Amino acid sequence: MQLHTSLVIAILFLVSSCFAVKDYLFKSCEQNGFCHRNRHYAKEITLDPNFISPYSVSPESISIEDSIIKGIVVKQLPHIDTSVEFPFEVSILCNSFHFKLDENRESKQQVVNHQRYNETVEWAFVDGVDTNREAKFNKDERSIDVSYGHNKVTIEFHPVKLTFFHRGNEVLVVNDKQFLNIEHQRSKEDNEDNVLPQETTFNMFSDNFADSKNDKLPLGPESIGLDFNLKGFSNLYGIPEHADSLLLKDTSGREPYRLYNVDIFEYETDSRLPMYGSIPLLMAVNAHEALGIFWVNSADSYIDITRQQDSTVHWMSENGVLEFVIIIGESPQKVNEEYGKLTGNVQLPILASLGYHQCRWNYNDIKDVLEVSSKFDEFEIPYDTIWLDIEYADNKKYFTWDSENFGDPAHMLKVLNRTGRNLAVIIDPHIKTGYEVSDAIVSQNLAMKNNENEVYYGHCWPGESVWIDTLNPKSQSFWNELHKTFMISDEHKNLFLWNDMNEPSVFNGPETSAPKDNLHYGQWEHRSIHNLNGLTYHEATYKSLIDRLPTQRPFILTRSYFAGSQRTAAMWTGDNMSKWEYLKISIPMVLTSNIVGMPFAGADVGGFFGNPSGELLTRWYQAGIWYPFFRAHAHIDSRRREPYLLGDPFRSYVKDAIRLRYKLLPVFYTSFHQASLTGAPVLKPVFYDYKDSTDDGVYDIEDEFFLGNSGILAKPVTDEGAKQVSFAAPKFSNENFFEFTNGIVSGKVYHDRLSAELSDVPMLLKGGSVVPMKNRYRRSSRLMRHDPYTLVVALDKNGRATGNLYVDDGESLNSEYKLLTFIVDKEGISLSSTGDYAFSVSIEKIIIVGADFAIDTVSSGRVISESEKITIVDPKEFPVKFGKGSLSHDEL
Ligand code: NOJ
Repeated sequence: MQLHTSLVIAILFLVSSCFAVKDYLFKSCEQNGFCHRNRHYAKEITLDPNFISPYSVSPESISIEDSIIKGIVVKQLPHIDTSVEFPFEVSILCNSFHFKLDENRESKQQVVNHQRYNETVEWAFVDGVDTNREAKFNKDERSIDVSYGHNKVTIEFHPVKLTFFHRGNEVLVVNDKQFLNIEHQRSKEDNEDNVLPQETTFNMFSDNFADSKNDKLPLGPESIGLDFNLKGFSNLYGIPEHADSLLLKDTSGREPYRLYNVDIFEYETDSRLPMYGSIPLLMAVNAHEALGIFWVNSADSYIDITRQQDSTVHWMSENGVLEFVIIIGESPQKVNEEYGKLTGNVQLPILASLGYHQCRWNYNDIKDVLEVSSKFDEFEIPYDTIWLDIEYADNKKYFTWDSENFGDPAHMLKVLNRTGRNLAVIIDPHIKTGYEVSDAIVSQNLAMKNNENEVYYGHCWPGESVWIDTLNPKSQSFWNELHKTFMISDEHKNLFLWNDMNEPSVFNGPETSAPKDNLHYGQWEHRSIHNLNGLTYHEATYKSLIDRLPTQRPFILTRSYFAGSQRTAAMWTGDNMSKWEYLKISIPMVLTSNIVGMPFAGADVGGFFGNPSGELLTRWYQAGIWYPFFRAHAHIDSRRREPYLLGDPFRSYVKDAIRLRYKLLPVFYTSFHQASLTGAPVLKPVFYDYKDSTDDGVYDIEDEFFLGNSGILAKPVTDEGAKQVSFAAPKFSNENFFEFTNGIVSGKVYHDRLSAELSDVPMLLKGGSVVPMKNRYRRSSRLMRHDPYTLVVALDKNGRATGNLYVDDGESLNSEYKLLTFIVDKEGISLSSTGDYAFSVSIEKIIIVGADFAIDTVSSGRVISESEKITIVDPKEFPVKFGKGSLSHDEL
């Protein structure tokens, strides 16, 4: 009986531990030395009305040369004659304010680089970001004014304070609350003389957290903290990755948002716990302005938010230089644009990567892959890429194929290629010990090291492994060679890559990652570079693919990412679950990624862990078609759920949803093109277009969004049993929104609610839009290349509509292109284009809604239903005006 009870308890424990995040593996702020100390300092200061900050700018130190201000911040220590100096620099980069503060540190002859890490910017920024020479400076004994564009910043010396004005309005005060804290270099022995009365010494020289006790903290405390007081901003966004709401929450008395890239097993929703990637960009928006705070730091970080009329953001990082960029603009789009000038925009993806991706852990062998592929054709469901997880390699030794099950990969690629399909395979950064790749990594000195500067060995999927150190420039040529040999023949052109586990995930490491005192190239501690580790890895892969095929756009999916990752990879939100709440949260997560310049984002359709019901899976596909990166994936223990396996009616609903994605590919591609030029979101939150609405409700809409600038508004159903949806955006607009369920217009204007049966993908089309669609079924996007377009036109209240279409060869870097603009009004349609791509764009049909004039009188178009004002016209008979560009009537 007793045995029975303990068995039950054990089972209960197993069951509950199976379905809950192991949050005890991750440090809370309270447990994490630097966060604990910075929060404590902030609290003490807040409680002390007589507090005088020990930090000031030395007025004599200031020099202004080549549009760069240089000076010194002095920290006065409690012992009256002792102070520490921190050199700082201020400049305007493009149109943004850039601040960087370092410390002159003495070498203590250790193996570890004792300087503050200052290369985050080199990974995050694009090359050649210019200092703006137009900025004007005005200095007196107490402050300097910097003016640029419509902005002015006053830098006060004592207390140190930076006040930002936009068109004369105060928008931001940095260090308003005097939370500035720089833990300067000191030894354990003389620590007492270096600590301010408001500080605590918690975990300054050791770490008492469960798995981190071996952390030697060789450089002692080094953290930095600073507050940003946002004047008139209560709506804050960004700082992914968290499984949380779009609008950032107040963290007073709760866990701050943490940025620390980790392999978080079975993550929970509504959580500030860290996840796989981090982008330290926070965006604040109100009716008049938008403001970006880009904290250029790749160490473990926490962000405390007090959300009110004037919100406060307290940013804390474990080490590194104190560097940030302030971006101010009229709108969120402007912030995206400026951020894109600094860190680069998303690369225009290879068109095929915008199609549907079919993944699971794992397809068993080549036969399985090809069977799945042909099943899609049998059921007439399009897909572009099939994926292989870790089991394809011989014993998880990446860059090999399991000879028994994947003996002839070139053949598999060739067969897939016949129908325009691609294969994506996984290559992780942990390399199993005891085979030629890891041997070479060790012998060529390319591995991450432990705190004694010896090769670091840890555990991951293959068992004992070493980690390639992609911070080392020498790793690149080695990595290039590996890819060249692996992707040996021309058939491998349709091979895409998946870089997973690159946080890095280490099964036996602290917080499931590498020890912070591990060492990288340059003897930098892992502590300093942790959050950009994943970026260095997928960037190395990108460069290897370019090295192999210099003209083709590579496709890489990464799990871990940082600011700048958008240039070379797509991301997904990792290991979610087959539950409704994960479907729901995926939308704000993907939107947040879009807000911070990383639009190529998606979530595992269907949920990674578990087995979704037919209804959940159907709704997930219907939502998933909107993810810029659209992939279904499932855990090795989950049941097979390829769309054709579903019973009807689910199968046909899922098929329709996937087909709808393909019909909309021209819109996705055009939106990505726009994003690649301007950093604009592909999935655009509603507040982007209606931020000046008097109704504050616009700021927390997180379940509906626009597809780029196309005018398509979507609201996926994420509630079990729901049969209708209510859109919020139309009430902020003066325009009509037309019902567009399943991509079909009926001519009806939306009011209040839209029916959303399980067969329906609810969507609206804003008056004033022209949407180019490709409506014919093909097996893959490549086979749709020459298909004609259907234009869906929703006229605005003035009887006008505009839209764009971007076309190029879909796969080359620097391909020729044509960007078409359509304008439709009473007179007919006018077309203009830029770009020289010699490709005829044929339009087979124009469908018009919202016309209060009789189109059949201006054209011989066929009016199918006068009452509902839907008109279908044959473009050959529709008046066409040709604007600039090379289009001719023959192209229609
Ligand atoms: C973790 C990834 O998040 C998941 O998608 C993948 O299937 C497993 N690693 C196995 O590679």
